[in-house]
Parts: sequence; C-alpha cells; structure tokens
Amino acid sequence: MGIEQEYFGKTGDGREVAAFVLSNAGGMHVKVASYGAMIVSIEVPDRGGRMADVVLGFDALGGYLGKDNPYFGACCGRYANRIAKGRFSLDGVEYSLAQNNGPNALHGGLAGFDKKVWDAKIEGDSVRMSFASPDGEEGYPGTLKIELAYSLSEENELKLEYSATTDRKTVLNLTNHSYFNLAGGGSILDHIVQINAERYTVVDDTAIPTGELRTVDGTEMDLRQPIPIGQNISSVQGGGYDHNYCLGQSAGGEPVLAARVVEPRGGRTLECLTTEPGVQFYTGNFLENIGGKGGAVYNRQEGFCLETQHWPDSPNHPEFPTTELAPGETYAQTCIYRFGTD
Ligand code: BGC
Repeated sequence: MGIEQEYFGKTGDGREVAAFVLSNAGGMHVKVASYGAMIVSIEVPDRGGRMADVVLGFDALGGYLGKDNPYFGACCGRYANRIAKGRFSLDGVEYSLAQNNGPNALHGGLAGFDKKVWDAKIEGDSVRMSFASPDGEEGYPGTLKIELAYSLSEENELKLEYSATTDRKTVLNLTNHSYFNLAGGGSILDHIVQINAERYTVVDDTAIPTGELRTVDGTEMDLRQPIPIGQNISSVQGGGYDHNYCLGQSAGGEPVLAARVVEPRGGRTLECLTTEPGVQFYTGNFLENIGGKGGAVYNRQEGFCLETQHWPDSPNHPEFPTTELAPGETYAQTCIYRFGTD
C-alpha cells in the first residue's frame, strides 16, 4: 500500500486542493481530493487484467467546481438526501434550510460539504480529511467537526471511516456520492445488482418518505436475488431507482454486505458494506449530457450510486433510526467499497 500526494488545482477563491493516490500491490489505484473530500477515480482490473476507471467524474478540478456537477464522488452533508420542505425541529426549536431540490432540502444545501475544501493529510495507511462546519452553516445548529479517513487494502477494499462530534445538538447524515460504472462507460442497465433488503422507504412524488416501509416482495423493488438493473426498471416509480433500501442493523457495529453489483462482460464486481441502516440506490436517472472524463458524455443511467446512509427525512420521522447527534456523543460510520472479478 502506498499513498502519493499531488496538486489538484485551485478553487475560484484561490484555495489549493490536494489529491492523493492510494495504490496497492494488485495494481488498484484510487484518487481522492480535498475538495468535497471526494473520490476522483478508481482504477481496477477486469477478469482479463484490463484496467478501467469505474467512477464518473471530470478530468480536472474545474469540472467539479462547475454547476453541472451532480455530486460526483463527493461527501454529502450535513444531511445527505432530503429533508421535507427544508424544515425540521429539534427540542422544540424549528430550523429552516435552503429548499434546493423542488420544495425540499437536498445534500446539505447550497454549499454543502461537497463544496468545501477539507484539510487533508496522509496519516499512516490512510488519507485523513477533516472539516469543521460552523454553528448555523446552511441553517444547521452546532459546530460539527468531521473526519473522513480513506484507506485501501490489499484485498481491493476502499474503506471510508466517518466520525463527527458537535457542540450543540444537531442532525447529520453523511454519505459518499460516487457514480459507478463497472464497464468504465456506457449504460449500466446490464449490470447485475443485488441488494440485501426486504423493505424500502416509500416516497411521495418529491422523493420524501411517506413513513411507510414496504416489503419488496413480488415488486419491481425486489433486488434480493441478482437481476440486471434494467430488468424491471421501467416499472420503478419515476422510471429509475432512486430509493432508500432499509438494511438490517449491523450487529456490534461491523459493516454488513448491503449490495453487490457485477458487470457481466468484463466481470468486475463491487460489493458495498456498511454500518448504516440504509442505502440509497440511485441509477443516475437525472444525468444528461454532462461532459466528463476523457471526452466522455454522461447520460441517463450511465452510472449508479450506492449511498450508504440513514433514511431520508429522518429528522421529521421520529420512528426512523435517529440522525441526531448530541454533545459528548461521537458519530461513527464505515462504508467499504470492495472490488473484485467474477
Ligand atoms: C438523489 C437523486 C439526486 C442525486 C443527485 C441522489 O442522492 O437521490 O434524486 O438526483 O442524488 O443530486
């Protein structure tokens, strides 16, 4: 395992952004950058040893800074996913957030964690990113100190370890928003997906949970047995998966296998493990004509996300696993993206 630091560019206000390349003996390379604590590239071999970059993104920092960037590879927060009407209350105090996605708040607001330059350094075998979100930033209470450590194992596991503390009670939900394409490009509809979830959170037409947890049994939402992503997708609400699957709570805080995706031609596999109670499976339904890496143009359903997280709009659903964090508590979550071949 080795880590090299390099210069990635400067933001509009002149802040330097660093990139780090993590490599292992198997020849896997992962590039992460301090802007948005994001994953820039993941190069892994297929079953014939051919390398490809399996995440969507841009050639240079400029693309990530642009308004066309649909959160490629970024860490979303303070609250990833949606909060209904941008409102929630905590201990009787009402908080109001930017409504940046129809009537709702999405991915932490107008300048969420995906748009911040994080502090970043190599520490042992990991790249440690940290960031302090001031009290009141984007409408959220409490100064939140966050750390995200990236490490790569010799078993081709990219591990993301999150931790956070606050000085006032707040809500948080952190995720990584990588768009994967295990063929390195083209449609993802022939990728085979399996998600180990019996229920999902039913959403209204603005993608806010109604509160109902519905069984996937006998429906187009059932991904418990591996099937092509495209097999039932036209029957899915909105014409594509963009839903939170409810995972069994992990015992003893160990990450559990939430999802497995296989690209049948090259045989690359991705397994997603998490300590979180949910995973948002999003099939890139809103990608449209985005000029990406190496001249690629990304369109609808050419990337998929496995956003491990708490359930959407939890602050307004006391019956959902809580997203509250109080002073003295430490938020800790782990996500592993494990690559291989079949
Ligand atoms: C959401 C999608 C959204 C995408 C990009 C996903 O997490 O569920 O609805 O379009 O992020 O913003």
